[in-house]
Amino acid sequence: MPESTKKATLNIDGKSFELPMYSPTAGPDVIDIRKLYADAGVFTYDPGFTSTASCDSTITFIDGGKGELLHRGYPIDQLAGKSHYLEVCFLLLYGYLPSAAELEDFETRVTRHTMVHEQMHYFFRGFRRDSHPMATLVGVVGAMSAFYHDSTDVGDPWHREVAAIRLIAKLPTIAAMAYKYSIGQPFVYPRNDLDYASNFLHMCFSVPAEDYHVNPIIARAMDRIFILHADHEQNASTSTVRLASSSGANPFACIAAGIACLWGPAHGGANQACLEMLREIGTVDRIPEFIARAKDKNDPFRLMGFGHRVYKNTDPRAKVLKQSADEVLELLGVDDNPLLQVAKELEQVALNDPYFVEKKLFPNVDFYSGIILEAIGFPTSMFTPIFALSRTVGWISQWKEMIDDPQMKIGRPRQLYLGETNRDYVDIENR
Ligand code: SDX
Repeated sequence: MPESTKKATLNIDGKSFELPMYSPTAGPDVIDIRKLYADAGVFTYDPGFTSTASCDSTITFIDGGKGELLHRGYPIDQLAGKSHYLEVCFLLLYGYLPSAAELEDFETRVTRHTMVHEQMHYFFRGFRRDSHPMATLVGVVGAMSAFYHDSTDVGDPWHREVAAIRLIAKLPTIAAMAYKYSIGQPFVYPRNDLDYASNFLHMCFSVPAEDYHVNPIIARAMDRIFILHADHEQNASTSTVRLASSSGANPFACIAAGIACLWGPAHGGANQACLEMLREIGTVDRIPEFIARAKDKNDPFRLMGFGHRVYKNTDPRAKVLKQSADEVLELLGVDDNPLLQVAKELEQVALNDPYFVEKKLFPNVDFYSGIILEAIGFPTSMFTPIFALSRTVGWISQWKEMIDDPQMKIGRPRQLYLGETNRDYVDIENR
């Protein structure tokens, strides 16, 4: 923690309380309220954590005003354009860009952990074939703690390292298995001669009946999608992983909790909800009807893929994905895709509508990702599992940072209680 450079003074009922403040390397100053309750007997109140820093971190920084996203200081557009996913994984996990030898060693370690325990194949059999792949993912990832007992002791640095590698390596295999299971096709084993993105595509789209050749442009687009979803500060699912981990729960259970949180349509589930919305809109001439609904306070409908708690200018990931969508659809000869036409027109209409401008609602990471994933051949039900496998490295990096923090305590928020005060039980005959 940095030294406290200044103080905040809180006046309550004529009494003054001084609170230390810290200045970050980037972003707003913070007020340390850890002793507030002990000193002043009051809680702070911030249900959506809109003004609360839950931890200190050195991994990812977002400037919502500028639309800037940095991973260990490197801008996301540079990483998306010049790096590849496993190198970004190394950067997030260890804090620096690896040498060629370090990168080769890391890629080899991940590659050697891509297979899952053979017994896990039978674990899938318990699910209905029409289960949503996210339901399967939550179940199977949580069950990893029943298969990999030799990497569940969070107090052992070696266990932590192996668990991190296993999760990064096996999430694509498990996500691909969830997809294959849902369409009644046999599981496809990972291959060590393929890069991370190509391996995932191969496990999803190859069948035993014929050879499958990965299109390198598609593999590059897949890898870029993984990079763009890798980490994002203390978002809802990362905060879930941190809170679950603060009790000392094993990493597989904590990542399963993060996957469960990501599933929500307000969070990672928005990519599936966005594509379903674009399909419901169907044609450009129906856009005004949906814009009106999004603005209607009495209608719960929201434009999925729009808005963000932090970005109030633009989501830098959406800019990269929009460019990638154009490239992939042109390559696949579907650049006249009606969904892309509706998405681009919807974006233009919303960006020029006073409601969305005033509320600073811009396309977020989920707005274009679904269009690319659908063009590659994934059903909408696989969009959020792909977000989850991409974000696993972010969750694990934040988990490691927290576990290594000597200040770590179990997370235990308090509340503003508005319920009944103490009262006596009433026997049923007297009610
Ligand atoms: C992700 O946190 C992260 O970093 C998340 C993420 C990551 O990488 O981890 O970036 C990934 O989750 C991206 C967000 C995906 N979700 C969606 O696209 C779902 C649609 N968006 C919204 O539900 C909403 O914008 C949120 C949840 C993303 C943000 O909500 P906030 O910050 O809590 O804002 P809010 O709900 O208080 O909305 C502020 C105002 C409200 O109007 P008023 O009550 O002030 O009149 O804006 C309106 C909202 O009604 N509004 C929208 C809207 N989003 C907000 N109106 C129409 N359409 C929308 N999409």
